[in-house]
Amino acid sequence: MQSFEEYLIANLPEAPSFHPIFDEALKAMLIAGGKRFRPRLLLAVVDAYVPLLRESAYPVAMALEMLHTYSLVHDDLPVMDDADLRRGEPTLHKRYDEVTAVLVGDALNTHAFYLIADAPLHNDVKIALVQELAYNGGIGGMVLGQAIDCYFEGEKLTAEQIDFLHEYKTGKLIAASLKMGAIIAGLDDEKQRELFEFGLDLGLLFQIQDDIIDATQSCEAAGKTTGNDEEKNSYINHFGLEGSRERADELAEKLEKRMEAFDEPLRENLNRLLEKYLYRHKKR
Ligand code: IPE
Ligand code: IPE
Ligand code: MG
Ligand code: MG
Ligand code: MG
Repeated sequence: MQSFEEYLIANLPEAPSFHPIFDEALKAMLIAGGKRFRPRLLLAVVDAYVPLLRESAYPVAMALEMLHTYSLVHDDLPVMDDADLRRGEPTLHKRYDEVTAVLVGDALNTHAFYLIADAPLHNDVKIALVQELAYNGGIGGMVLGQAIDCYFEGEKLTAEQIDFLHEYKTGKLIAASLKMGAIIAGLDDEKQRELFEFGLDLGLLFQIQDDIIDATQSCEAAGKTTGNDEEKNSYINHFGLEGSRERADELAEKLEKRMEAFDEPLRENLNRLLEKYLYRHKKR
């Protein structure tokens, strides 16, 4: 069976035309890699319950990665975080130009939904998947979170608002990744909700760790521009490095406990995947 990585590289989006760089720019950040965390979460759930559906789920896993990659391309733009390095490479607006980066982001976003529509799954499943990705990647999640993140630069939010910001900009898409796996696997509403809730805490942990990375890692080590959160409502700026690590510890422990109640195959898959993430804030 093809690995997800092989599938992704073999099925990169294509936009052939006489445009000299668009097609190359469209693929560049997907090829550059990254952790592929969201598709792996989705596939961990599908594999645990209906391994036969793994390959049918690849286009959906790829859609998640494309929508996430679009969020990074736009996040790095000068009007947002103004970052030069992403996934170990120059950001698209640096390597090409801003217009190309904006439009590549747009294309990755819309093509994600094309991939779901085109997946070899039942139509009702695909409608539910579109609904989850559109909402949690948009106004019910990532986009609203990013809007708050950028609007309140230089202005201190409350602790409650910071949790909201982190949950929206990062948690919702991570939660949706697990839930979308549950939808493909045909799990009942209760299990879907349980995985979504777990994903919200996992996403919050993931973003706190990301804030720690911004404050503690070099650009080379992180593969992206770091030291970039000075004006942000990051965990570090509110609670300091030790306070952020403590909150991360609490969340990681809570997640480990919650996993104990999961069905065994799911617990095994998530344990394997999350092993290197749950305590990555401890790396010094
Ligand atoms: C970075 O996401 C931005 C956040 C939402 C924290 P990732 O850390 O998943 O980035 P890649 O996909 O590995 O590049
Ligand atoms: C970005 O958060 C979250 C997204 C939705 C892309 P950050 O701005 O902290 O992500 P990095 O640190 O640039 O990867
Ligand atoms: Mg940002
Ligand atoms: Mg950023
Ligand atoms: Mg960051």
